[in-house]
Amino acid sequence: MNKLDGKYALITGASQGLGRQLAIAFAREGAAAISLVARGGEQLTEVKERIFEVGPAVRVVAIVADLTHPEEIERAIATTLSAFDGRLDVLVNNASSIGPSPMPFLLDYPLEDFRNVLNTNLIAPFLLIKKALPAMIEQGGSIINVTSDAGITGYPGWGAYGISKFAIEGMSQTWAAELEDSGVRVNWVDPGDMNTAMHRAAEPDADPIQWADPAEVTDVFLYLASDQSQHVQGQRFQAQEDNWGRNVIEIAA
Ligand SMILES: NC(=O)c1ccc[n+]([C@@H]2O[C@H](COP(=O)([O-])OP(=O)(O)OC[C@H]3O[C@@H](n4cnc5c(N)ncnc54)[C@H](OP(=O)(O)O)[C@@H]3O)[C@@H](O)[C@H]2O)c1
Repeated sequence: MNKLDGKYALITGASQGLGRQLAIAFAREGAAAISLVARGGEQLTEVKERIFEVGPAVRVVAIVADLTHPEEIERAIATTLSAFDGRLDVLVNNASSIGPSPMPFLLDYPLEDFRNVLNTNLIAPFLLIKKALPAMIEQGGSIINVTSDAGITGYPGWGAYGISKFAIEGMSQTWAAELEDSGVRVNWVDPGDMNTAMHRAAEPDADPIQWADPAEVTDVFLYLASDQSQHVQGQRFQAQEDNWGRNVIEIAA
């Protein structure tokens, strides 16, 4: 018995980095159907091929979409639900933009870049949840938002990115409180430092060897996507900490 036998999942930002590894791990753990969303079509095709190597029976749909555009979010959800016969068990809001590199201080932060980061990292997950919920409510499901330690500490230079992650932490708590009596759970994960394109752009002078391979941080996501976490609601997890840094947050009644 695999952890995700029969699950239908949508993963944003699945073209590279953590999202790519989550898609592969979900397939390996028996997911029945996976929707991959990102802008990079060629990379999505590569991920799709990799999924077929680990899970030949998985139904995969690759959707090229720019999540800064609400109409592309609508299309991504509609295409997914149509391919999945209206079913969705797991939504992973992983796609993210770091903004300009090198990262400017707020005083110098261009408005367009600020808007773009918030659109990608905050507004897109908000809309994706809104659009996916009707399909998830009936059977129950799991929403997993990806955050960062920059979402609980205001580091200089991490500007719009950090602010977007503070906001996704608050938005996750609010969704969790509002959905408390439904079968849909909302939790959020800080994956910790990983060696990905985003982190290399954020800290070009650092040695990426010190950061985890994103393939090593997928366990907590598998747990949250599986029925094992069926009653886990409104919690923050840290993928690289002991016990996943499990921190139970009181959600409002
Ligand atoms: N790396 C770290 O150390 C670290 C630490 C803490 C938290 N995180 C979080 O972990 C998650 C994954 O990050 P990562 O490090 O794996 O980054 P990454 O390698 O840069 O991947 C980011 C993904 O987001 C997608 N994306 C970005 N903008 C998009 C848009 N407008 N529309 C659709 N897709 C878009 C990218 O795909 P396309 O470019 O193909 O669209 C890519 O697949 C993010 O939420 C990040 O904030 C990362």
